[in-house]
Amino acid sequence: MFVTGIMLCMKIASRLVAWQRTHGRHGLPWQQTQDPYRVWLSEIMLQQTQVTAVLPYYAAFLKRFPDVASLAGAASQEVMALWAGLGYYARARNLHACAQQVMQDWGGRFPPDTESLASLRGIGPSTAAAIASFCYAERAAILDGNVKRVLARYFAIDGDPTTRIIEQQLWQLARSELPTAAQVRQDPMMMSAYTQGLMDLGATVCTRARPQCTTCPLKKGCAAFAQGRTEELPWPRARKILPERSIGMLIACHDGHVLLEQRPDTGIWGGLWSLPEFDAALSADQGCTSYGLQISSTQTLSAFLHTFTHYRLTIQPILVRSRNHAFSAPAQRGPAQWIRITDIDRLGMPAPVRKLLDGLRADQLLD
Ligand code: ADE
Repeated sequence: MFVTGIMLCMKIASRLVAWQRTHGRHGLPWQQTQDPYRVWLSEIMLQQTQVTAVLPYYAAFLKRFPDVASLAGAASQEVMALWAGLGYYARARNLHACAQQVMQDWGGRFPPDTESLASLRGIGPSTAAAIASFCYAERAAILDGNVKRVLARYFAIDGDPTTRIIEQQLWQLARSELPTAAQVRQDPMMMSAYTQGLMDLGATVCTRARPQCTTCPLKKGCAAFAQGRTEELPWPRARKILPERSIGMLIACHDGHVLLEQRPDTGIWGGLWSLPEFDAALSADQGCTSYGLQISSTQTLSAFLHTFTHYRLTIQPILVRSRNHAFSAPAQRGPAQWIRITDIDRLGMPAPVRKLLDGLRADQLLD
């Protein structure tokens, strides 16, 4: 009995829940609801994205799409346009597909547990568990990047947490540290406080650099702290050497319009409006010819680098003055169109392309 008492008090759950209730975050817009639509939307937006970046997008999405039916019924272009700037665009395509799945397969109601939530497009096991614990008080374990760091430190887990073997070990620990079924029966709101507590602790106390161990509710029992190894745990992800690619991009202007092309729905920047591209091995003039442009001048601007998950892309922008609106996009590329410069803000565009065009517009080079 004595041993069990000590073991219980060294478990994470009670301390974390008490800490979350007094020191955690409570004012975030998705914490004011148990509506799975709203919680799901926030969880998808918060994947790989900071809270401060998400807040305006979350408000804009809810204003335009107050429920899953309105999102499911929207044109994919509109969804992409509202998402533009948040990055990782597959999330937006999956979001839209998931809303349609909820309408078609679940009668417009989100499924009622982790397992069925995880069967939907774009919802992985951790996101499914977050939604189920927040909305249904289900005893379900989450394991995102922040939680991996908390657990890898608390249990001093050596090894790269992104590898399958270490990830399995961390899932096991995440499940074993959940509040007990009896605790949740007695206090169902405990599950959302626990899940939010793990997220908050990872984001505000058990940070990657300079963790605030002195104020951490889990200091007692934390193996990394006891061993002075918080700096070295968790192990950093083994650095991948990313392949490099280069392309030229044409900013072709004529009479207050710029030539844009819509990217195919799948692949990088899927469905977004971007600038015409050409192989970096071609000259600027050859690039213009490949789009059938009749040009009066070209100007080579500063090249810049954009890093994707799987490769690094050097973009060489070429500012092109066109004599007229004639063009013929190369075969196998998406539809191209001359768009009035005052209309480009309404289109979904990749962030680096938007930045490039905004800079040129501010310098009055797009006319
Ligand atoms: N990151 C992922 N989910 C979150 C949440 N519910 N609150 C704050 N940050 C998060």
